Amino acid sequence: METKVLNAQLKEQECDILVIGIYEKTETLSGVTASVDEALGELISKFVIQKDKFEGKFKNTYLLQTYGKIPANKVLIIGLGEKEKFTPNKLRELSAKIVKKALSVKAKKVCIDLGKLEFDASISGKVVAEGALIGNYSFDKYKTKKENETKIEEFILVEKDYEKFTKLETGVDKGIKIANAMSFARNLANEPAQYATPTKLAETAKKIEGIKTKIYEKDDIEKMGMGAFFAVSKGSCEFPKFIHMKYSPSNPKKKIALIGKGITFDSGGLDLKPSSSMVTMKDDMSGAACVLSVMNALRQFNPDIEVHGIIAACENMPGCAAYKPGDILTAKNNKTIEVDNTDAEGRLTLADALCFACEQEVDEIIDIATLTGACVVALGTHAAGIMGNNQELIDKLIKIGEDSGERFWQLPMFEEYFEGLKSDVADMKNTGGRWGGASSAGMFLKEFVKDDVAWVHMDIAGVAFLEKPQKELIKGATGVGVRTLLNYILTI
Ligand code: BES
Ligand code: MN
Ligand code: ZN
Repeated sequence: METKVLNAQLKEQECDILVIGIYEKTETLSGVTASVDEALGELISKFVIQKDKFEGKFKNTYLLQTYGKIPANKVLIIGLGEKEKFTPNKLRELSAKIVKKALSVKAKKVCIDLGKLEFDASISGKVVAEGALIGNYSFDKYKTKKENETKIEEFILVEKDYEKFTKLETGVDKGIKIANAMSFARNLANEPAQYATPTKLAETAKKIEGIKTKIYEKDDIEKMGMGAFFAVSKGSCEFPKFIHMKYSPSNPKKKIALIGKGITFDSGGLDLKPSSSMVTMKDDMSGAACVLSVMNALRQFNPDIEVHGIIAACENMPGCAAYKPGDILTAKNNKTIEVDNTDAEGRLTLADALCFACEQEVDEIIDIATLTGACVVALGTHAAGIMGNNQELIDKLIKIGEDSGERFWQLPMFEEYFEGLKSDVADMKNTGGRWGGASSAGMFLKEFVKDDVAWVHMDIAGVAFLEKPQKELIKGATGVGVRTLLNYILTI
């Protein structure tokens, strides 16, 4: 699907579907909408609004035949909801809905005008492009019969005002890049574990242009003292890979590290998961997919920031060499950990990755991980958990997340949450009891971060993979984190 902006009149466009938006309780049409209505012999004002009582409720649609009155074959009227409540996030959702609707009626060319929106055209362009590409995404490479036989060829934003048109173009360009990065992450996380192995993640990292990538192999991992990560990897026949990517511009304003949890399959290990919990565990590398995708997108934006992408990739399996409850592991910073539950493996792999990141002398570390079921219990599928040692950075990321269409909700890191992690035989255990599990996991990670580094932990367990479509109608892997992290890097 080609997404672009055209400096022209909407009603003159020849296309399969021409889209116009109507706010709730619109009585008289104006601007572009009015001119389309006039050309259609007041079909919209007289019939759709007055007779059929189309109220313009958010996401409601009405499809109209034009019978040759304008070059477009059909007009899709879409409800924008209440004018005061309309936001860029809602526009993104609408755009995805429009594309889904267009796919369902096998349209090839879609034209849309955003004439009378309240916010800046560059923002509109960005979110419309994002929404359209999100709506157009499907993971059907393994289906012999594809979901959408007819593809949308062109998705065109039409704007007659030249100044607005140029702003839209800037926005659309950025939106396309960000949406493509999301698809990159979603493709990786949707890929079954049999293919998306640690080796595959390492190969993906190696292929990214414009960055330096070093892969540490099994023996290196052991030699480097990553005893926690190494232990998790032992029960699997897949070789672990420690991936270090580095994007380094000549005079960086800041140095940051992004760490993604890269468990390519989490069976739970010897503390085996029940089948109902195991079934989506190919997505336990969603954090890694996000980091790989952000690293891959950097060269398109050329930010003046040094960015490290770090992934400790392995499987968590109950093979004959598997680590066992009761084992005592030594992490890279020499702290010791008693294994209480082999299913709390993510924090063990992240522990060593955090130590490694601190050694890179970065100013900030952000880790993103499908870490705890407790976070899913707390926040459901509507927000990711966020916590860390630097309130300013947490606040910034929450705000940027909100603007990006990704919601983060802060969870506490009170000292008391460490109580349950205390061990009789080692510096700590890897689990902290049943309650407050997302926070105790955060407290565990904190043990591996140097105090003078700003660190934020994102727990995306509930939002990385959706069984039911939400908001922009995303299903399956969501690519969560890509928008927030890219937008963050672009605002530093
Ligand atoms: N990968 C899981 C967390 C998870 C749960 C992700 C649900 C996505 C959806 C993680 O490794 C895990 O198993 N955590 C355990 C920790 C427990 C043993 C302390 C959990 O949350 O049950
Ligand atoms: Mn687990
Ligand atoms: Zn896991």
